[in-house]
Amino acid sequence: MKNKIYSADFHPVEGIYLLSHAVGRPLISAEQWLSNTFFTAWKKAQPWSEWLATIDAFRTSLGHLFNAPMTEFCPQTNLSSAVVKVVMSIEALQKPSAVVLLSEVDFPSMGFALQHALPSHCELRFIPADQDLTDANVWDQYLTKDVTLTLISHAYSNTGQLAPLSEIIRLANQRHILSLVDNVQSAGIIPLDLSHTKPAFVIGSCVKWLCGGPGAGYLWVNPDYLDSCEPKDVGWFSHQDPFEFDIHNFKFANSSLKFWGGTPSVVPFAIATQSINYLHDIGIAKLHQHNQKLLDMLTQAFGDECRSPANTLSRSGTLILNFGRQHQQISRSLRAQHITVDNRTMGMRISPHIYNQPADITDFIDAVHRATQQKFT
Ligand SMILES: Cc1ncc(COP(=O)(O)O)c(C=O)c1O
Repeated sequence: MKNKIYSADFHPVEGIYLLSHAVGRPLISAEQWLSNTFFTAWKKAQPWSEWLATIDAFRTSLGHLFNAPMTEFCPQTNLSSAVVKVVMSIEALQKPSAVVLLSEVDFPSMGFALQHALPSHCELRFIPADQDLTDANVWDQYLTKDVTLTLISHAYSNTGQLAPLSEIIRLANQRHILSLVDNVQSAGIIPLDLSHTKPAFVIGSCVKWLCGGPGAGYLWVNPDYLDSCEPKDVGWFSHQDPFEFDIHNFKFANSSLKFWGGTPSVVPFAIATQSINYLHDIGIAKLHQHNQKLLDMLTQAFGDECRSPANTLSRSGTLILNFGRQHQQISRSLRAQHITVDNRTMGMRISPHIYNQPADITDFIDAVHRATQQKFT
């Protein structure tokens, strides 16, 4: 019954929405919130102090969400641009011996950005797609001492896997390997406590499970690494005192804001602050539990068709189902009934959030069973 109340807070769509790995649903109150924060300030003669306070509120919300001081978060536009800023700021990655470890199942944009941001002599080394990224032993094997930095996706939406983050970071730290976590597919659905799990950097954004729309990206910088970073893509908001206005005197901000850049946008951060606070108030552990309960209903119904891990400790918020030769027929049938899922190489991605009810999953299961009984077209 409680979850019913939560679903009433989000804009409904026709049918059943199971695409939270792509775009989280907006809160119904988001438009009013945006009007109160962004437009109310803009109507005044000097909106910037309120707009900057809005961005600080975003950083504070992230601090609550991930249990770290707000000063350690820097707003970003998206992950691709954040990853470029990070790797260009690290001197060790400019050396001929530099090696960056990532996986073939990381989001392709991360690979594209790394290829172009790093010097051509830097080796991009891929963990092959057939390796089990939920297994710390696999990471142990690939985190060799010649690796300079490793990219770790906390959650993989195409395989439904969850990386053993704490263990990987422990191994990386032991071997003096920098760790850069992409947590866009876990933020808002899988708890992450940065006071315990301490990579060198985290990048993410709020468009998916955090229900905050596109454009509200973030970078968390571990204070132990801050001083050694020299971002190249800077602007006046990366300055210790943006209002000093001396073109001959640039001094890095002495917080993560050294990674900021030029005039920031405000609207995405205003919208995302509200949804982060909303979800944090419910509690990420509770959201995770709800999500996993709904995924369990699916694994019970479709054990043979499930292509993602069955164990909660190894799976993300997304479940992958593959119906073999009936797959296309089922996908078409679900689409016709406005049951929104999508497909990648391994199969159908299904991502239930707090606005989904057990009844949504029962309806999904029934719809699949009906579709399998239909004649092939
Ligand atoms: C794991 C992962 N990383 C990154 C991104 C997106 O990166 P960007 O914010 O640069 O578009 C996605 C988008 O789906 C993703 O799933």
